[in-house]
Amino acid sequence: MGDTVTLSSEELQEAAKQHLWLHFTRMSAYNGGDVPVIVRGSGPYVYDDKGKRYLDGLAGLFVSMVGHGRTELAEAASKQASELAYFPLWSYAHPAAVQLASKLAELAPGDLNRVFFTTSGSEAVESAWKLAKAYFKQKGEWSRYKVISREWAYHGTSMGALAVTGLSSIKPDFEPLPPGGVRVPNTNFYRAPEFVSASEEEFGVWAADEIERAILREEPSSVAAVFLEPVQNSGGCFTPPPGYFQRVRSICDKYGVLLVSDEVICAFGRLGYYFGSERYGYQPDIITFAKGVTSGYSPLGGMIVRDELVEPFLTGNATFLHGITFAGHPVSSAVALANLDVFERDNILGNVRGNEAGFRATLEKLRDLPIVGDVRGAGYFYGIELVKDKNTKETFDDDESERLLRGFLSHALFDAGLICRADDRGDPVIQLSPPLICTQQHFDEMEQILRSVLTEAWSKI
Ligand SMILES: Cc1ncc(COP(=O)(O)O)c(C=O)c1O
Repeated sequence: MGDTVTLSSEELQEAAKQHLWLHFTRMSAYNGGDVPVIVRGSGPYVYDDKGKRYLDGLAGLFVSMVGHGRTELAEAASKQASELAYFPLWSYAHPAAVQLASKLAELAPGDLNRVFFTTSGSEAVESAWKLAKAYFKQKGEWSRYKVISREWAYHGTSMGALAVTGLSSIKPDFEPLPPGGVRVPNTNFYRAPEFVSASEEEFGVWAADEIERAILREEPSSVAAVFLEPVQNSGGCFTPPPGYFQRVRSICDKYGVLLVSDEVICAFGRLGYYFGSERYGYQPDIITFAKGVTSGYSPLGGMIVRDELVEPFLTGNATFLHGITFAGHPVSSAVALANLDVFERDNILGNVRGNEAGFRATLEKLRDLPIVGDVRGAGYFYGIELVKDKNTKETFDDDESERLLRGFLSHALFDAGLICRADDRGDPVIQLSPPLICTQQHFDEMEQILRSVLTEAWSKI
């Protein structure tokens, strides 16, 4: 088959339907209609094969931080590929990975100084759990293997990462999963249990203490790590209550458990800082990252670990018996370095910090709609929870959710020119995570499209 760019729209449709397997997608949804085909991007916009423009309100999949169509990132890839397209990090180094590891160590909080590259977020989570297990074995704490994570939290799809994931609906087809995944409540204050719903601080103390209770229930000497996102994506942007992470940090210290900050979404400016843990002022033992590190111009992920965690592997014949062929790929590493240059030159973090209040205020306007129950998030990362009754916070049942989200909202928002995500993996939410170059004009565009589509959705209930 030749260059796909030369195919007509009709040929692309036919070939996509016959040969391409879309991820997490009900393929039958396209039996009677077209598969959306996105062909190019520019800034915060992308264009389909018929030339129609969409505002990329999800940055692809929480990825395109500096926006689309940056030729300097493409050129960095081309230059590196011409010089050294590939060499592994198995017993060798190459300059791009070395420089990127140094840069990430410089940006990461505290003594997070050592970088283990992967190609994706799932591999980063998988690697962090494997490191936690291997580290404790090196220290003679043989029984520590369990991981604690939060209800509904998504941490990836490989078997280990899926066992860390808190979304029970995506697991049964793949069971049995590796043992040791333990769930605790998330920080959805909108749906806080009655007895802690009076103040966010009180709710945060309870939610953090639930981690301690889980450690005690499981037996502390069996628990290796707690995996938390700075702001939990799945379920719709659950921000941490004030003091939550500080309390979790001290609980982890008390029981010798590692704190892993899964920043696959929250790093590289999503929350206005290089790392989400920086925004909320806590020191993780491991940060996992992917997505925004290259703004999607090439795939890359990894984990950044504290000095103490690598020490047992720096002497004698100790080895972390783990590796991935394409991890820290030279092209991806060079692109990540160029991406971080753009961050500095164009003051990307400053743009998020300077505009986030405007983004919030613009989305908050939607609260006057009867279907909007909550608007929550931080930085350039928001979730809008949809409800059947604002006063009682009654949510939609499965059938209604199916009709509303899959049957109407997803298509209607896309047809109206906004790419975002209508997600029903928890209570129904619309997720927004636009490129970090967006400004007020883009926030207004999102608000106007959401207002008109959500108003129509309400009339269909
Ligand atoms: C918090 C978090 N961890 C891990 C992953 C998995 O990343 P990937 O899809 O690159 O494997 C994701 C993906 O969205 C994520 O949001």
